[in-house]
Amino acid sequence: MSGPALSRLDSHRAIHESSRYDAADLTEILERAITKGDDVAASQITCLLIEHWQSRTLRHAQMEEEGLYVEALERHLDLSTLIVSLKRDHDLMRKLIAEIEDLLGGAKWAQIVTSFQTLAWIEKTHSFDEETKLVYELMQRSTVVPETAS
Ligand SMILES: [Fe+2]
Ligand SMILES: [Fe+2]
Repeated sequence: MSGPALSRLDSHRAIHESSRYDAADLTEILERAITKGDDVAASQITCLLIEHWQSRTLRHAQMEEEGLYVEALERHLDLSTLIVSLKRDHDLMRKLIAEIEDLLGGAKWAQIVTSFQTLAWIEKTHSFDEETKLVYELMQRSTVVPETAS
């Protein structure tokens, strides 16, 4: 099932923005720790960021794949290409987070920061597409009153 929060543009967008702003704040803190040369803090903040992306963005993605996307496809098969591309974005974010976990072991800070920035770019682009091409579209379709036969 998909909660009503995912079906409405305002609440769905608010979920995206809340996670995005928290990730941006944490990424800034990580960059400051790296600039100071504080490897212990950098390592702790990277763990927090990984946890953040997993528990917020990836969990949200999983809920969409098990609810919103399934329900959309049941009613609107023409949205299948869009949904394949949105799921691909989710997969790219999953892969990137797994790569960051590997990089953490080697304390490869420059690559870790670049990966978090890439992750943020994918998430922002993905969320814009999801909001405008899927959620908004579904809302529009649900408010169309079918013509009655005369
Ligand atoms: Fe998504
Ligand atoms: Fe979403």
